[in-house]
Amino acid sequence: MLAPMAGVSVQAFRRQGRRYGAGLVCSEMVSCAGIDHGNERTLGYLRVGSDEHPLAIQLFGSEPGVMAEAARMVEAAGADLVDVNFGCPVRKVTRTGAGASLLDEPDRARRIVQAIAGAVTVPVTVKLRRGVEDGARTCLEVGPELVEAGAASLTLHPRSAQQMYTGEADHALTAELVELVDVPVVASGDITSRARAQAVLAWTGAAAVMVGRAAQGNPWALREILDGDGTAPTREEVVAELLLFVRETVRELGERRGTGFVKKFYGWYLGRGRFPKPFKQELVVLDSTEEVVTRLLAAAPGAAEVLERLEAELPAAGDEILLDRLPISIYGGG
Ligand SMILES: Cc1cc2nc3c(=O)[nH]c(=O)nc-3n(C[C@H](O)[C@H](O)[C@H](O)COP(=O)(O)O)c2cc1C
Repeated sequence: MLAPMAGVSVQAFRRQGRRYGAGLVCSEMVSCAGIDHGNERTLGYLRVGSDEHPLAIQLFGSEPGVMAEAARMVEAAGADLVDVNFGCPVRKVTRTGAGASLLDEPDRARRIVQAIAGAVTVPVTVKLRRGVEDGARTCLEVGPELVEAGAASLTLHPRSAQQMYTGEADHALTAELVELVDVPVVASGDITSRARAQAVLAWTGAAAVMVGRAAQGNPWALREILDGDGTAPTREEVVAELLLFVRETVRELGERRGTGFVKKFYGWYLGRGRFPKPFKQELVVLDSTEEVVTRLLAAAPGAAEVLERLEAELPAAGDEILLDRLPISIYGGG
């Protein structure tokens, strides 16, 4: 599964994940707060394309009733699963009683899952961290309760909220959680290779693994994890995927937002020893997509042909549903 990542999991990222074999992709978290007062600081709205399914759409919020209403909207937009975020460690989110802070409020967490499960017919899943404080084992208490409340699957990222992304994911906890519940458990955290995926699956008994940071600018990691094909992409392939990503993301977010948004992806695509470092620096200072495209094509002219093949496989534009009452929060994380 491809991990939900705020500020990363735009439509182009999810579609790319599917092309490289992810069995399930997930939107980044969308805010339920927008329904009530519409004043969430927002990065934009989610677009759901017909080729993204099966797609999980992730919600975050703290009010069971509001979240249930958001879940209905998400189901109507075509979500195959409604995922609930009990993992976001960012203070702007936890301060509102959402994300990982719900791990310390099991009663409210349970009511949220119950309300959502009662509102939709698609499965409701939950993504959680191990707990709020370092060393916490809260997930082992809350997880089974959430299953009782109606969660059809749990994804565990076994770091504490306090840890953010430091240290290592402690999949010993994932193994314990698998023993405690009779629904599929998904292991998230530090899955970077096929060897690592196989080791974690064997060790924990998890039903699936989720891949996040390893797939940033690197869909080839998904291919390697799925079928062991570790062939490095050619420069043309790398540039073609980046060109498609830039173009699609600018289409989704608009030129002004899109050009800023894609900048962090340059290093992710062009790093990893694929291009000399100064090349990324050159792109980051360019202001328009047009200049970026020109520069990339000059570096790898053969990419144009690869890009044409990728474009031919895209569904027709307009074949999308816009979730325009649920903003994508700028404060994301998990
Ligand atoms: C930039 C970034 C944004 C994230 N945003 C979310 C999010 O919106 N919802 C969520 O459940 N997890 C989020 N996560 C957590 C990931 O889904 C995943 O659990 C975590 O990164 C560990 O997996 P990895 O080691 O494969 O990256 C985010 C992670 C990163 C790095």
